[in-house]
Order: sequence, then C-alpha cells, then structure tokens
Amino acid sequence: MFNIREDWRSVDFNDIVSLYNSVGWNAYTKDKESLLKAFTNSSYVLIVKEGNVVVAALRSLSDDVSIHYLQDILVRPSHQYKGIGRRLLDNVLKRYSHVRTHMLLTDDEEKQMKFYTSLGYENLKTYKKGTLNTFVKMNN
Ligand SMILES: CC(C)(COP(=O)(O)OP(=O)(O)OC[C@H]1O[C@@H](n2cnc3c(N)ncnc32)[C@H](O)[C@@H]1OP(=O)(O)O)[C@@H](O)C(=O)NCCC(=O)NCCS
Repeated sequence: MFNIREDWRSVDFNDIVSLYNSVGWNAYTKDKESLLKAFTNSSYVLIVKEGNVVVAALRSLSDDVSIHYLQDILVRPSHQYKGIGRRLLDNVLKRYSHVRTHMLLTDDEEKQMKFYTSLGYENLKTYKKGTLNTFVKMNN
C-alpha cells in the first residue's frame, strides 16, 4: 500500500528531481532551484513514497475559494497503472471540493484524456453545459 503524504520537505529534494526526470520532464529539472521554488510556492503538494523512493507527486495552486489549478501530477513509469495517480487526484479534489472551478492544462493526448475524464474533468471541446472557452499565453 502506498502512503500519500503532504510532508514533501522531509525528503531529499533530489528524490523529487529524480521523479521528474523519470517521466522526462527535463524542462523542470535543468533548473533545480526553480523547481524547488515552485514546490515551496505551491498551495498544496502531495507525494507518494515506496521505501525511500518518491514514486509520485502532485502540485496544485488555489485561492481556496474560486479556483483550483492542478499544475503537476506524475507517477514513476514503473509505478503507473496501479491507481496511484487516481488516488492523488482524488485526494486533491477532496481537499478543494468547496472550490468552484478546477482547471488544468495538459498535452492533447488520448492517455491524458482518459485519465482526467475518468476523474470527472471535462474537455472544453466536448463541454456541453455552456459556452466556455479558455485562453493561454506561454512564455518560452
Ligand atoms: C497520467 C499519470 C499521472 C496517471 O497516473 P497512473 O497512476 O498511471 O494512473 P492510474 O493508474 O491511477 O489510472 C487512472 C485512470 O487513468 C487511466 N490511465 C492512466 N494512465 C493511462 C495511460 N497511459 N493511457 C490510458 N489511460 C490511462 C487508467 O485507465 C485509469 O482509469 P480507470 O481507473 O477508469 O481504469 C501517469 O501516467 C504519469 O505520471 N504520466 C507522465 C506524466 C504526465 O503525463 N502527467 C499528466 C500531465 S500533467
């Protein structure tokens, strides 16, 4: 059984960097100090450990009233398809269940679509409850 914990500061941050590398998120890990800052300034962070290995993490931003933005969710490839991602997302959605809007930005791929829709998120392309749109501005 994997334990979901909030105490990410108790682990060696290099173990979190290693998790990000394991899913190929090198844009984050080429600047470890910035990743640490991003963790420190997140509203809510969850990690999952197996022994001393950090096998999954989630990072969210929220004002605790109107918006909950899921920034990162990642599970080591060796530990995917075991329900860990689902449990992490369930936890954060419970934590912010009083918040009206839950948003995230992700790659337009079938696996992401399946993962998020199975957890209650709706893709705006097929959203039927109104005429919503979304805008994004990325700095490279
Ligand atoms: C996306 C990710 C977090 C899912 O975590 P996971 O622990 O493997 O997912 P779970 O085992 O909890 O599966 C949850 C649901 O998503 C589906 N799912 C998960 N990964 C999938 C994949 N690669 N392809 C298709 N469906 C997938 C499962 O079928 C499951 O649905 P079900 O319970 O109805 O069968 C994980 O694959 C990952 O870390 N990927 C790399 C990083 C990434 O892309 N993060 C998300 C973008 S921010």
